[in-house]
Amino acid sequence: MKKIGILTSGGDSPGMNASVRSVVRTAISYGHEVYGIYYGYKGLLDENIQKFDRYSVSEKLDKGGTFLRSARFPEFKEESVRRQAVEVLKKYGIEYLVIVGGDGSFMGAKKLTELGVKCIGIPGTIDNDLSYTDFTLGFDTALNTVIEAIDKLRDTSASHQRCNIVEVMGRNCGDLSIHSAISTGAKHLITPETGFDKEKFINELIESNERGIEYSIVVMTENITDVIQLAKEIEDRTGIETRATILGHVQRGGSPTAADRMLGMRLGVRAIELINDNIGGRCVGIDGDEVIDMDITKALAVPSRSKKELINLFEITK
Ligand code: ADP
Ligand code: F6P
Repeated sequence: MKKIGILTSGGDSPGMNASVRSVVRTAISYGHEVYGIYYGYKGLLDENIQKFDRYSVSEKLDKGGTFLRSARFPEFKEESVRRQAVEVLKKYGIEYLVIVGGDGSFMGAKKLTELGVKCIGIPGTIDNDLSYTDFTLGFDTALNTVIEAIDKLRDTSASHQRCNIVEVMGRNCGDLSIHSAISTGAKHLITPETGFDKEKFINELIESNERGIEYSIVVMTENITDVIQLAKEIEDRTGIETRATILGHVQRGGSPTAADRMLGMRLGVRAIELINDNIGGRCVGIDGDEVIDMDITKALAVPSRSKKELINLFEITK
């Protein structure tokens, strides 16, 4: 019997609950004890910890967000704070810690591992910015939310012959933008990977307008430029009526898709299988249809994948 803690950390993502359910039920079926830690690393420090049974995760699978709640807790970057967390885990006899979160949360897990805690990371973020895994939990649901929003924006943009710049989340990763632009047949795509040349972009808009293209959807990753300002500048300089839509946190919510539920359930099982073998310091992920695991330090060092093929696909088919 092993004592296992589980927490969710960083930006919430649909599918986190599925992975927690899977970890809890799988662990209990192997005879382990599971402790739910609320509010991420902060809750660990605050000892916001509850022993779970299999019913603690009932009716959570279909819910968005994270019922364990999450937190951004920058103090965890300090070693003294992490040492306090280790003391809390010792007090509860928790030897294994499952962390569901993004690259920041994984960094915390890596550093806790260095202090002797056996950590397992489950990738949970809508950004899909952990390159060791094909997909992170929540990406598919967020992508479908973005697609639904863009489809609606297309209706009104076409009716009014407007340009609509849609700002999509992803932090510094263009995956949500690239996949949604391809899936909606957007006319322009601007991401950290494509780069942004404002003059070239505005000239392209003018050219397509002159060719008789009545409206255009521009998908742009957040943190590149102020889209409201850009829309105003385009309208002032070109006379093309332009609006900006910031999709914002709506992208993080909603019931997880089948793909995210399946991924969460599968990754949770692998996390417990590693713990059954007394293994820590690893994270789980998906490669094609195969569940994989990898050393967490190595996983964090995997360079971001080339987006060339997909960007090319967008350019050819737009
Ligand atoms: P995500 O996990 O979604 O990338 P954040 O980057 O906000 O989200 O990270 C979540 C939490 O992980 C942070 O609030 C902090 O508690 C912890 N964390 C992030 N970076 C580090 C780090 N370098 N060292 C230790 N802990 C970290
Ligand atoms: O990492 C998930 C994410 O939604 C990013 O796409 C976005 O940049 C960030 O979190 C927003 O953070 P917050 O919820 O703290 O505003």
